[in-house]
Amino acid sequence: MSPAPLLQVVNKAGFAADLHHALAERPRSISPKYFYDEIGSALFEQICTLPEYYPTRTELSLLRRHAAELADLFGPQAQLIEYGAGALTKVRLLLAQMVRPLGFLPIDISGPHLLQACAALQAEHPQLHIQPVVGDFTQAVALPAAPVRGLGQRVGFFPGSSIGNFTPTQALEFLAMTAEQLRGGGLLIGVDLIKDPDLLHAAYNDSQGVTARFNLNLLERARRELGCRFAADGFRHSAFYNAPLQRIEMHLLSMRRQVLSLQGVDYSFEAGETLHTENSYKYSVNGFLALAEQAGYKAGPVWTDEQAWFSLHWLQAPAC
Ligand code: AVI
Repeated sequence: MSPAPLLQVVNKAGFAADLHHALAERPRSISPKYFYDEIGSALFEQICTLPEYYPTRTELSLLRRHAAELADLFGPQAQLIEYGAGALTKVRLLLAQMVRPLGFLPIDISGPHLLQACAALQAEHPQLHIQPVVGDFTQAVALPAAPVRGLGQRVGFFPGSSIGNFTPTQALEFLAMTAEQLRGGGLLIGVDLIKDPDLLHAAYNDSQGVTARFNLNLLERARRELGCRFAADGFRHSAFYNAPLQRIEMHLLSMRRQVLSLQGVDYSFEAGETLHTENSYKYSVNGFLALAEQAGYKAGPVWTDEQAWFSLHWLQAPAC
C-alpha cells in the first residue's frame, strides 16, 4: 500500500504571499524552498548527476564506505528521520546496513515526489514502517511516535549539505530544533567544505545549463501557479562565490528595465537588479563543529573524502 502523507503545509497562497513580500523589498530575496515543485525537484535530481556538481557523488561514496560503521553507531531498531528527503537515494545505503530499523520518517516539501519515492522504497523494504511527512522540515512539526516505543534511538539524517542553504543563524536554530527532537539519539549530517572557488563556481554554473533551468524554474513556477507575467528572456541565472561570506549566491538577474506582474501588482526591475534565490554556505570542519556544539550537540566522528571537499558528521543529541 502506498504510504499516506501526514500533512500538507505548502500552498499557493503561501507562495504568493512570500513572492509579493520578496518583490516589494530591497534587496529582493526569497526562500529557496520554492524551487522544489515537481519540475524543480526533477531538475535538482539532474543536478546531482552532473559532472561539475561534486557534492552528491562525494557524499555517496562516503556513505558507501562508512555505512557499516554508521549502522553500528545508530544501533538496532533505530527510528530514522530524514529532513528534506528528496529521492531517498542516500538513505537506502544506511537502511541496507541498519539492524531491524523500527521506522523511517522522511520529511519533504514536494508531496508527489516524496510519495512516489516512498512507494518505491516500501516495495524494496516491505517490513519497514514508513511515515512520510509532507511539509517544511525547518518548522518544528510534531513528529509521530515510533510504531513501537522505547526500543532504539532516534536518528536524524540531513544529507546533501542542505544546512548550507540556511544562514548561520538559521542553521543554528535548525540544529537546536533537531537536537531537541532527537534527544538521546543523534544526527548524521552532510556538510560541504570550503574549497577552490573555481570548483565551487563550476558546480553552480554547469555547462549543460541545468542549474540555470533550476533557478529560472522559480519564476516559471510563479507563472504556472500564480499567473505571474514577465518576459521569457527577461531574467538570467547568476551564481558566484562570495568569498568573505563563504557562500555561493544564486540570483535571477534582470536583463533590462522591465515590469513583472503578480496578481495585478506591477513590480519594476532595473537592468542588473536581482531576485536573490539561494545561498549555499561552505564550512570548515571546525567551524561547523563549533556551530553544532553551540546548538547543543556533542561532536562525534567526522569523515571526509581524500580531497577534503565534503564532510559527514555524527552528532550526539544529549538525553537532557
Ligand atoms: C539542496 N542544496 C544543498 C543544493 C546546494 O548545493 O546548495 C541546491 C543547489 N542549488 C544549486 N545547485 C544545487
